[in-house]
Amino acid sequence: DDGTAAVTANAHFVVVANRLPVDLERLPDGSTRWKRSPGGLVTALEPLLRNNKGAWVGWAGVPDADLAPEVDDGLELFPVPLSADEVERYYEGFSNATLWPLYHDVIVRPEYHRDWWNAYVEVNRRFAEATAAAAAEGATVWVQDYQLQLVPKMLRMLRPDLTIGFFLHIPFPPVELFMQLPWRTEIVEGLLGADLIGFHLPGGAQNFLYLARRLAGQQTSRGTVGVRSKLGVVQVGFRTVRVGAFPISIASGELDEQARSRKIRDRAKAIRKELGNPKHILLGVDRLDYTKGIDVRLEALYELLQDDRVDPSDTVLVQLATPSRERVESYVRLRGSIEQTVSRINGEYGEVGHPVVHYLHRPIPRDELIAFFVAADVMLVTPLRDGMNLVAKEYVACRSDLGGSLVLSEFTGAAAELRQAYLCNPHDLDNVKDAMTSAMDQTREDGRRRMRAMRRQVLTHDVDRWARSFLDALADKGAAGRALVAP
Ligand code: ADP
Ligand code: F6P
Repeated sequence: DDGTAAVTANAHFVVVANRLPVDLERLPDGSTRWKRSPGGLVTALEPLLRNNKGAWVGWAGVPDADLAPEVDDGLELFPVPLSADEVERYYEGFSNATLWPLYHDVIVRPEYHRDWWNAYVEVNRRFAEATAAAAAEGATVWVQDYQLQLVPKMLRMLRPDLTIGFFLHIPFPPVELFMQLPWRTEIVEGLLGADLIGFHLPGGAQNFLYLARRLAGQQTSRGTVGVRSKLGVVQVGFRTVRVGAFPISIASGELDEQARSRKIRDRAKAIRKELGNPKHILLGVDRLDYTKGIDVRLEALYELLQDDRVDPSDTVLVQLATPSRERVESYVRLRGSIEQTVSRINGEYGEVGHPVVHYLHRPIPRDELIAFFVAADVMLVTPLRDGMNLVAKEYVACRSDLGGSLVLSEFTGAAAELRQAYLCNPHDLDNVKDAMTSAMDQTREDGRRRMRAMRRQVLTHDVDRWARSFLDALADKGAAGRALVAP
């Protein structure tokens, strides 16, 4: 059964994201199969959509695939095709070599090409049209992330009957950086097509309100935006657009349960043994992305070894890195430099059969990943900038034993919630080194106290609460009163 017969094209709840939750994999023998697609957006939204039987409009992750809609485990998938040329200009180009670095504090210099912008407009239009075709009269549509910022406006023009939400999964940059963008006004106006625009943090929402005033000439509220409260308001003609902060999270209860299972615990023990039962297992888990500070933690470890503050005979670092955006130049360069540092550390401090750094460049199956979280003594999350960082929350959810410690960059959204982590500034290498040694040397009591507090936060603020708070605010169209900051 290919499921196509059951697709209604009449969905009452539709998620629109650049990627479907599954990627099409083309096997050498010409056959195809689906595999889970990478990144935090899918981690957060997939369980939610499967439980609520919604529809998902997105790209299948490979060029030139013309696929019919299908039902996968109760979830309706509406594939949007991209040509090889569009993958290059819309996805690798404008999305990931213009917007991604611009929104992440220009860690890498953003490139501005008119030709990439044209592809972005065209592909956003295709997503808007596919969504308009899938949504029932009066449906709720939730548009996701930086790849689709023009969709809210385009969709509203096609389908004024829809309720449209937009959520940005990455940071919304400071005004001074956003103003570099040649198409800054079009992006702000594209987003203003939504009824509710969500960011992880109040700061992002406030940056946006300022830009809506300055670039789109709209009247906006000026008060402080809260977390899941005190929404900001933009008056767009007769419409009221609301702007808020909704920090995303994970399915923490389920993860907690999985991590407690006998199978995972046994596997965690086996991992420790395979690594030689070292005193300290340090762990990094990321897409291979320059925002993640993988290079920062490797440099910090190298210096700690040089300073004799870390003993290579009883310490290992496991770095699990999922391949990402492999044809974008800055990612190619980053991979080269990370692999060079791994070799340098192992060349100078490893022994035959006992490397200091274990580095895997491939996605890890979910169960195996959970076992690594359970096995690790110190979780290293050191991004130079990250909208939220779900890995930090996943680690905490997996530690019902109250063991382990979390080193966490101040420049992640998660740092606003996980205050008991060993917080560090990734631009200050001495500070990162100190956070790492403090985390390695913490007393059992102090560690348990910190982990308990962080678990309370993550377990009570899960992804359901995130989605509910956003969708409740979206549905509550008339509530121009109590929760809002007046214009
Ligand atoms: P981003 O969305 O930028 O990729 P997040 O930390 O928010 O970053 O989410 C990453 C998601 O991908 C998490 O669910 C994490 O467990 C998963 N992930 C990251 N690295 C790997 C890996 N090497 N193997 C499997 N899953 C991974
Ligand atoms: O929010 C982070 C995010 O960029 C998602 O939008 C994206 O799907 C994911 O990370 C993984 O990146 P990509 O889709 O480019 O592989």
